Amino acid sequence: MNRGNLFLAIASVALTATALDAQQPQWTIGMSQCNLGEPWRVQMNADIRKAAEAEPRVKVVFKDAQNDNLRQSAHLEEFVRAGVNLIIVSPKEAAPLTRPVSQAYRKGIPVIVLDRRVLGSEYTCFIGADNKKIGRAAGRWIVAALGGKGKVVELKGLMTSTPGQDRNSGFREGIRGSSIEIVFEADMKWLEPNARKEMESALARFPVIDLVYAHNDPGAHGAYLAAKAAGRENQMKFVGIDALPQEGQMYVRQGILAASFEYPTGGKEAIATAVKILSGQQVSKEITLPSRVFTKENIDRGGELIND
Ligand code: FRU
Repeated sequence: MNRGNLFLAIASVALTATALDAQQPQWTIGMSQCNLGEPWRVQMNADIRKAAEAEPRVKVVFKDAQNDNLRQSAHLEEFVRAGVNLIIVSPKEAAPLTRPVSQAYRKGIPVIVLDRRVLGSEYTCFIGADNKKIGRAAGRWIVAALGGKGKVVELKGLMTSTPGQDRNSGFREGIRGSSIEIVFEADMKWLEPNARKEMESALARFPVIDLVYAHNDPGAHGAYLAAKAAGRENQMKFVGIDALPQEGQMYVRQGILAASFEYPTGGKEAIATAVKILSGQQVSKEITLPSRVFTKENIDRGGELIND
């Protein structure tokens, strides 16, 4: 090999190495998901994965806590020990996850809290839709749909998680001043089988139910199945929250739900925010995502933005 060729060969090896370096992720993100048993959370992880694939500088390591606070705390501790560059966490419950989140944050690891909150403010940024506003919009929608009065069942999400609390208090604000009566309420912990069971009790006790407001679409669907088994599904309306295209929106198209309020997963926004933080940019402490309502009338137009 003459000198010129040797130089070219070395240069090309160096170039290849540089090109490879540029493709190597610079940052590892630990993503702690509270459970993957529900379609909405599977969608959140898919949204994160898709956004991360378009961003060669990041690599995401996923952990699924299988609906167990202790396991989720352990995952956060593992991420800290492994020295990840940033943590995204969608916590199961606020109180038990507050300490591991603040411990990571105090060690200097940026933490993005996604969808459900922790207590206090020891995290970098919270991303999620405004659950109180969604609850209020659902309340107002229900008052209009029932002409101001009627008997309603409220199937609540896990009341030790912040979306459950906010979807409840917002809803109560939304129906204030109307003659809507909540005849039955129960915590179905976000789970369709629990919602179905609770609804069986409600049906057994109340001969008249005009509407079921469930804090998520699996809950509304569980209630619908209970009413259908009792031959009463046509006597009442069902309203849920999440509005995934393949779940709540489909139920609206099928006429199972009268309305579903969108709860965006925030997966895409979490990766965009993570990259900003990791490249040294400032981000706001609160990033509030918009929400839409889907009904039979507006679903072909892509739903309608909710406003307060
Ligand atoms: C999934 C889920 C969603 C709900 C969200 C609230 O676990 O129950 O259905 O909108 O969590 O955090």
